[in-house]
Amino acid sequence: MAQRETWTSRVGFIFAAVGSAVGLGNIWSFPFQTASNGGAAFLVVYLLAVFLIGFPTMLIEFVIGRRSKQNAVSAFSELGYGNWTFAGAIGVFASFITLSFYSVVGGWVISYIVGSVTGGYLGQAGTFFGSISSGTVAIGAHAVFMAVTIAIVAGGVADGIERATKFMIPAILVLLVGLAAWGSTLAGSAAGYAYYLSPDFGVIASNFTSIVPSAMGQAFFTLSLGFGVMIAYASYLGRDDSLPADSAIIVVLNTVVALLAGFAVFPILAATDALTGSTGAGTAFVALAGAFGQLPAGQVIGLVFFVVLLFAALSSSISLLEAPASYVVDRYDVARPKVAVGVGLVSFVIGIVPAYGYVGLFNDFVFNILLPIAVLFIALFAGWVANRESIDELGRGTALGQGATTLWLWWVRVVIPIVVAYTLYLGVTNFYT
Ligand code: PHE
Ligand code: NA
Repeated sequence: MAQRETWTSRVGFIFAAVGSAVGLGNIWSFPFQTASNGGAAFLVVYLLAVFLIGFPTMLIEFVIGRRSKQNAVSAFSELGYGNWTFAGAIGVFASFITLSFYSVVGGWVISYIVGSVTGGYLGQAGTFFGSISSGTVAIGAHAVFMAVTIAIVAGGVADGIERATKFMIPAILVLLVGLAAWGSTLAGSAAGYAYYLSPDFGVIASNFTSIVPSAMGQAFFTLSLGFGVMIAYASYLGRDDSLPADSAIIVVLNTVVALLAGFAVFPILAATDALTGSTGAGTAFVALAGAFGQLPAGQVIGLVFFVVLLFAALSSSISLLEAPASYVVDRYDVARPKVAVGVGLVSFVIGIVPAYGYVGLFNDFVFNILLPIAVLFIALFAGWVANRESIDELGRGTALGQGATTLWLWWVRVVIPIVVAYTLYLGVTNFYT
């Protein structure tokens, strides 16, 4: 079998993982989930979900990946007793399904970049979305987005993924800061910030059963957890740096990008009176494009915004393709470029279904059902099945004492499964009603 690839440096790994984490979830989904779930009230629950559940779950995936040096499916048979490969398989399946609709939304972003250049959505945001979001235009743009994703993954871990994300992440940060600064100059920005940042705890209490699954689903999705992606990425670690430190950097950067996107989007929505309201998969695009059509320099700002969104989407889609691709590369020892093309093509074909108007359905299924199931099994595996040497992987390369590892282990054994099982129960109930 070919020599397994590794990242060239610690920073390379961190960039790639941040690239996976920072995506449509931060810039598209997060501000609009927050807007439709009561603003700051949602933000509070979401931040708790990210730090109390997401962060320790990322450590589980890193421990499994670095310890096993295997793709997300084989890793489970390597480290445990009995056959737990199904736990990884659920995640890889989630990656695959998510890639299919993520690429469709990536295609929308490409159409919006074109629309920013031609002025196609100015003054007719609703019509424009209708014309590009489903049918042949959507499928064409989906094909372009998938082709770019395939090309990067075919290039390999160091030359393709690492190089692409090292350029994209700084670009996203700089452009978002610029957008947020521009947003602060808009009339009504104060109302936007108020809705975004001052929580109404009554809203949490009265919408608890819908806020919890949305916040947890968003937390897993945004951190790329439950997909096997972070397992695959950690499996390419050739060195023993501190996993908790790397994980903290990734979680914090991902959160910064989401919060920044909120600082850009909320003033824009407030300036055009679009702060509250329902959010289907397309609402975000319609609301923003509508705002860009009304605001000074909106067309240029729109172009910048959608370019940021495209970079973010690509640095994530490559990781979505990498998870299933690394499984096939390890398992069948086929050359990486061939695998990237093959897996990408199948995912493209599945994506034709969401490209006919089912992005929202796919999205809800992944958020409410697949992700909590995947995380539940990963946590049960790490907590109760994996052998002790695997668990001690957490402390390698760190100054952490045994106490910290034990604390984490009990958190993984008890707290995460209970919280996630409850989320799953609420998510299933919401999905089927
Ligand atoms: N984390 C990405 C986002 O927020 C989505 C994603 C999930 C990407 C899983 C890769 C793997 O958009
Ligand atoms: Na994210």
